[in-house]
Amino acid sequence: MKQKSILFFPAITGLFIFLTLQFTAALGQPMNKERFVDSKKSLVDNLVKTPPMGWNSWNAFHTDITEQKIKDAAQALVSSGMKAAGYEYINIDDAWMDTVRDAQGRLQPDPKRFPHGIKALADYVHSLGLKIGIYESAGTKTCAGFPGSLYHEKTDAESFAKWGIDYLKLDNCNNEGVDYMQRYEGMEKALLATGRPIVYSICEWGVKDPYQWAPAISNLWRTTGDISDSWNSMINIVDQQVGLEKYAGPGHWNDPDMLEVGNGGMTNTEYRTHFSMWAILAAPLIAGNDLFHMTEPTRDILTNKDVIAVDQDPAGKQGYKVSDNGDQEVWVKPMSDGSFAVLLLNRGEDRAFMTTTVEEVGLSKATSYKVVNLWDQGNRRQAGTYSTNDLIRSSVAAHGVAMFRVWPESK
Ligand code: GLA
Repeated sequence: MKQKSILFFPAITGLFIFLTLQFTAALGQPMNKERFVDSKKSLVDNLVKTPPMGWNSWNAFHTDITEQKIKDAAQALVSSGMKAAGYEYINIDDAWMDTVRDAQGRLQPDPKRFPHGIKALADYVHSLGLKIGIYESAGTKTCAGFPGSLYHEKTDAESFAKWGIDYLKLDNCNNEGVDYMQRYEGMEKALLATGRPIVYSICEWGVKDPYQWAPAISNLWRTTGDISDSWNSMINIVDQQVGLEKYAGPGHWNDPDMLEVGNGGMTNTEYRTHFSMWAILAAPLIAGNDLFHMTEPTRDILTNKDVIAVDQDPAGKQGYKVSDNGDQEVWVKPMSDGSFAVLLLNRGEDRAFMTTTVEEVGLSKATSYKVVNLWDQGNRRQAGTYSTNDLIRSSVAAHGVAMFRVWPESK
């Protein structure tokens, strides 16, 4: 008996030391591929805990892009105050490539329009304290007809990582009917395998209900076809976001497409509506205008810090519609500090007087509420305190919004 216990204790101590070493190794070092992929994933999710903000070349320039235009945009993002307001990504869209791959099967930039290559451009963008994004398609060709990434995922992801790319938008053109999961998951795996944290933006146009499957493999996913620079296009996209709020959250966002603010096809009132709606929807704020030639009113819309704070709230709750009488709608977004962002939207052709209530908004009961108007330039810093029955009311311009943030004050 005595003999046994003498052997027993060293054996137990040995086992304990062995298990402790295994556990410590598991904490410090990925032990297997799955764990590695999981930790890489959460690293990327952390990059977009709040919706990504930046600029993309497509809406302003379409295929007419050059290295210089991308550099100009990056510089303007800084000098305009947009970087300070939170914009971070400079995303090159379609048409950056040469029409053929190189002898090793790798993508190469168009030598005339991007003479110094993507790595040099990425270095420049990084030197400004910004990040850089690029575009490809999960098909045999991009929408503009350049070489696609389907069946080249590994090679292309490796090129992106080598160049220092931080964000990939993966389009859906020329997909040859290949299963969407095979195509989009194929690129997800290739990106994770590079070891570089690259934000993954799926651009599948909402065809196969991406909100059902894209949150597991990507950071954002387009919910609709392309936006264009008109009131009808923009408001039609808003209508298609109803009910999608349950799919969004930190690291994973519904993407109603890039902003058209400042491109000239809508009035400033309509652009304010566009920007406010995107903020209520916790949408990515990816500006799509010519930043180098931006007007003052456009800059003011894109840098409204109070509206941006609604979009960027750390709780990451996508807002939703609480009432709709045809022309007038009320939208709300619960914020992490117990306040609510409240938006009165007038889609009608005439100015309208609009109002809402505490009950409709879903605010907790209080004897008074602090209300800040997020757009009324003159007084938006002057908070009013209101009793419940005259809470939120405003005369709202045709195609306009009134947007407030409301805090319950005393119980
Ligand atoms: C598709 C996308 C757009 C843009 C173009 C580029 O239409 O949805 O956002 O990237 O391709 O060709």
